[in-house]
Amino acid sequence: MTVRITPSILNANLASLADEVGRIPSADGLHIDVMDGHFVPNLVMGAPFVASLRPTTDLMFDVHLMIEDPDRWAPQYVEAGAQSVTFHLEAATAPIKLARELRAMGARASVALRPATPVEQLAGFLTEFDQILLMTVEPGFGGQKFLDPVLAKIRSARKLIDASGADIWLQIDGGVSADTIERAAEAGADTFVAGSAVYRSDDPDQAVTSLRNQAQAAQDCCH
Ligand code: DX5
Ligand code: ZN
Repeated sequence: MTVRITPSILNANLASLADEVGRIPSADGLHIDVMDGHFVPNLVMGAPFVASLRPTTDLMFDVHLMIEDPDRWAPQYVEAGAQSVTFHLEAATAPIKLARELRAMGARASVALRPATPVEQLAGFLTEFDQILLMTVEPGFGGQKFLDPVLAKIRSARKLIDASGADIWLQIDGGVSADTIERAAEAGADTFVAGSAVYRSDDPDQAVTSLRNQAQAAQDCCH
């Protein structure tokens, strides 16, 4: 399995974001967190913001919508230049319809689950998605502690994905660091969001490479 590191810019210096993005050329994509102050108790970024960042980098944009009513708002992010758009299952009214709409626009469709939402809720329509995002913290803020109980859910998701035979990325988000990435990779995650572990490092690009190497080694040992 290919390991991907998609750093979150939430913990970068938002006042000079184009420079901050330029500090992670080795990343496999840029994870852009969008929060509406309702689905989560924090408010950041939006489609115009994504559009203005688009010309500053060639990195894939992996937009994570932590918002109510993604059915209404998600397509705007594809128009703004996102290659992948993640919405929360808990917030969507018609997740299958929305995933199909995103794909029809040429984007990867991705669905996120909060820590307490069982992955079995996706059984039967897993292949509507190109990526499953399992939150390993409660969404809303960077810098939180990795929730170990989600490891069992990562294992369940890996089994469901493998059984489906589809090429679906299994992403985790929250508390990913040198201390936690190996057990998440062993459990079956292949795509890792890391915010503070990258942007609080003196050398963010080196942090990306080092996290990828750790995850790859853990995966090689156990899969
Ligand atoms: C949290 C966001 C994350 C966050 C991760 O709700 O979705 O993407 O930025 O930050 P760290 O890696 O610091 O937990
Ligand atoms: Zn995120």
